[in-house]
Amino acid sequence: MSKKSVGITGIGASLPKKIVTNKDLESVVDTTDEWIRKRTGIEERRVLEVGQNLSDLGAQAGKDAISSANISVDEIDMIIVATGSPELIWPSTACLVQQKMGANSAAAFDLQAACTGFTYGIDIACQLLSSGGYKNILLIGAEAMTRYVDWSDRSTCVLFGDGAAAVVIGEVEEGLGIISSDLGADGNGSDLLEIPNSGSAITHDKLGDVIDQTIKMNGADVFKFAVRVIPATIESLLNKSGVMLEDISLIVPHQANKRITYSAAEKLGISKEVMVSNISKYGNTGAASIPLALFGLENEGRLEKGDLIITVGFGAGLTWGSNLIKWSKTS
Ligand SMILES: CC(C)(COP(=O)(O)OP(=O)(O)OC[C@H]1O[C@@H](n2cnc3c(N)ncnc32)[C@H](O)[C@@H]1OP(=O)(O)O)[C@@H](O)C(=O)NCCC(=O)NCCS
Repeated sequence: MSKKSVGITGIGASLPKKIVTNKDLESVVDTTDEWIRKRTGIEERRVLEVGQNLSDLGAQAGKDAISSANISVDEIDMIIVATGSPELIWPSTACLVQQKMGANSAAAFDLQAACTGFTYGIDIACQLLSSGGYKNILLIGAEAMTRYVDWSDRSTCVLFGDGAAAVVIGEVEEGLGIISSDLGADGNGSDLLEIPNSGSAITHDKLGDVIDQTIKMNGADVFKFAVRVIPATIESLLNKSGVMLEDISLIVPHQANKRITYSAAEKLGISKEVMVSNISKYGNTGAASIPLALFGLENEGRLEKGDLIITVGFGAGLTWGSNLIKWSKTS
C-alpha cells in the first residue's frame, strides 16, 4: 500500500495589537532605528500586553487555521504547540489552547525545540499522520518572547517579538504535501543561546531573590552557526529527496536577522528573492516565524498548488531543521 500524502490543509495567524517600533526602543535602551534596521532588517515588532497570554494567541491562530481547513474543531485529534516561551511549565500551553478552543477530542503537548520547533513539528505530525493513527493535527508555533527579554540588554531586546501562527496538517491530494525533513541538534552549543535561570535550574536557595529569567545570547557565534547550518540542512534535505535547488520556488527561513538569511542565500548561490523575509514587521518570533511567513505568502497569493518550497529553522539547543513541501493549500 502506498504511503498516504499529508500536507497543510489550513493556516491561520494571530498577533498582539501592540506595535513597538525601533523608534520606541530608542527611549528604552541606547540604540537607534538606523542601527536596528541596518544590522537586522527589523523595523517593528508586536508585543503582548498585560492581561493577554500566549494561549490566547495560540487558540485564535488555531481557530483560524481550522476554519481555513474547512473542518470542525472536533475533527482535530492532536494539538502540538511549538514554543520556546511557554505560558507555564505545567500545564503545557497546548492544553491551555485546547481548553480555549474547545478541542475536546484532541491530545495535546508542547514541543520544545526553540526557534526550530515548527520544522520539528512538521516532521512529527507527518510521521504520526502517515502511520494512520491520526487524521488532523493542529501544529501551532506560538511565542511570548518579549516576556523573556532583558529590556536593559540592547543586543537582544531589539530582536524579539510575539505572535502565533498555526497549520492544520491532514491528508492531501496524492503527490502533494510534506515530502521529507532533515532535523538535527548539537547540545555542545547549548550555552550560546539560553535562558539560564529557568525551569528546574531555579534552585531553592535562590527563592526570595529576584530571579533573572531572561534570554542570554552570544550573538556573533549564533550568527555564524545560522549561516553555516541553513545551507547544510537544505543540502542534506535535497540530497535525501532527489530534488534540485533550482526546482525550489521559495525558501521560508526562520526570521532572526535579514543578514543571516541573505548570507545563507549567497552561500547557496541563489537570489535573495527566493529567501522569504517578513522580519521588518515582526522581528524574531521564534517557532511562530515560519508559519507566520507561510500565512503571509498564502494570503498574498504567492503560493501556487504544486510549488516546491523549503522551510528552514535554527535556534537554541542548538537545533536546526528543514522540510520540503509540495504546497497543497490555496485560499
Ligand atoms: C545580535 C546581532 C544583531 C548583533 O549584530 P552585529 O552586527 O554582529 O553587532 P556586534 O555584536 O558585532 O556589535 C557591534 C556593536 O554594536 C553594538 N550594539 C549591539 N546591539 C546594539 C543596538 N541594539 N543598538 C546599537 N548598538 C548595538 C555592540 O555593543 C557593539 O558595540 P562595540 O563595537 O562598541 O562593542 C547579530 O550578532 C545577530 O543577529 N546574531 C544572531 C542572533 C540570532 O539570530 N538569535 C536568535 C537565533 S534563533
